[in-house]
Amino acid sequence: MSSFLRFSRMTNLVEVQSLKLNTGALMPAIALGMSAREETPEETKAYFRKALEIGYRHFDTASVYRTEPMMGEVLEDVLNSGTFKREELFITTKLSPAQTHADDVIPALRESLSNLRLEYVDLYLIHFPVRIKPGTKLSYGPLSEDAFLPLDLVGVWKALEQCVELGLTRAIGVSNFGSRLLGVITADAKIIPAVNQVEMHPGCLQPRLLDACKQMGIKVMAFSALGSPKYSTGFTSNAVIDSPILKEIAEKHGKSVGQVALRWSLDHGVCVVVKSSNPSRMAQNLNVFGWSLDEDDHTKIATMPRFRLHDGTYWINQTTSPYRSPKDLYDCWSD
Ligand SMILES: NC(=O)c1ccc[n+]([C@@H]2O[C@H](COP(=O)([O-])OP(=O)(O)OC[C@H]3O[C@@H](n4cnc5c(N)ncnc54)[C@H](OP(=O)(O)O)[C@@H]3O)[C@@H](O)[C@H]2O)c1
Repeated sequence: MSSFLRFSRMTNLVEVQSLKLNTGALMPAIALGMSAREETPEETKAYFRKALEIGYRHFDTASVYRTEPMMGEVLEDVLNSGTFKREELFITTKLSPAQTHADDVIPALRESLSNLRLEYVDLYLIHFPVRIKPGTKLSYGPLSEDAFLPLDLVGVWKALEQCVELGLTRAIGVSNFGSRLLGVITADAKIIPAVNQVEMHPGCLQPRLLDACKQMGIKVMAFSALGSPKYSTGFTSNAVIDSPILKEIAEKHGKSVGQVALRWSLDHGVCVVVKSSNPSRMAQNLNVFGWSLDEDDHTKIATMPRFRLHDGTYWINQTTSPYRSPKDLYDCWSD
């Protein structure tokens, strides 16, 4: 679709289209998820190398995923050996929720860069609009009230702007922000976020948020785009991958359900982060260009049951959190 552009230096294996950020930079529209479950460091390095070989050029990591050091080893190797030029790769990482404080942002990004063995990242995101005590174990239920620290999102955003000025990152953005919170940081911003990374899949569209991002010139990046099947730590659903509606559409187009789900996100003009440790599915997930879903497919998908994996309950309480209800945090998938 028209919002996609060809990435200037693309893999000769597959043609992955790109989105143009409000910085003017091109961001490959498919990113590989670099979160880790039970993978060993050696497995993470092998996974990253395999993805580079298959044709992935955009990688989505975060301080809390703890995969930056393994990526750094591989990056140093492939950049020093001349296998890749730095500008051929697009690296996204994120600020830990334990470092969401103005004074912590620059040191946190410097630490990520040191782990990644890079001079700059392409995109740096605030992972969550919360600040929790260092050492707090992230949980999949509500955090204890004493886990939260006061949050100054505007101050944090100003520190991210400084990261751009210092050349530590080419673009900045946010993750898990609803349109209300985007309004908070953009009201007095020098730099408008380039990206908002949020949960998005055929069961969770959030049209109001998509529209707000479009109005502000912010690109949406969809995570858990397959509904996170097999996720071992809490947030998981087979509702996307086992959907009879998606199965029927996949058969019609001669594609897999995964490809249909990813194509659905791409048809909405967003970038998709997807994870697979299986080389054949990794290749399949990158091969989602050159065809589209039709109007009838989109109409059918719109009838799928709505659900959200990351409903924010772990960030909400009535005393210490800045958020009293999911509505304070997120837009609803139904509006
Ligand atoms: N910003 C945030 O707060 C946030 C939150 C969650 C996730 N993320 C990002 O998004 C990435 C992906 O998230 P996720 O793992 O929750 O969701 P996901 O990509 O929806 O699901 C990944 C799972 O789908 C399976 N899979 C992959 N391709 C498939 C296909 N074509 N057909 C069938 N199954 C397939 C994989 O299994 P196999 O390995 O066996 O293929 C894997 O278990 C993360 O790594 C992270 O980078 C960000």
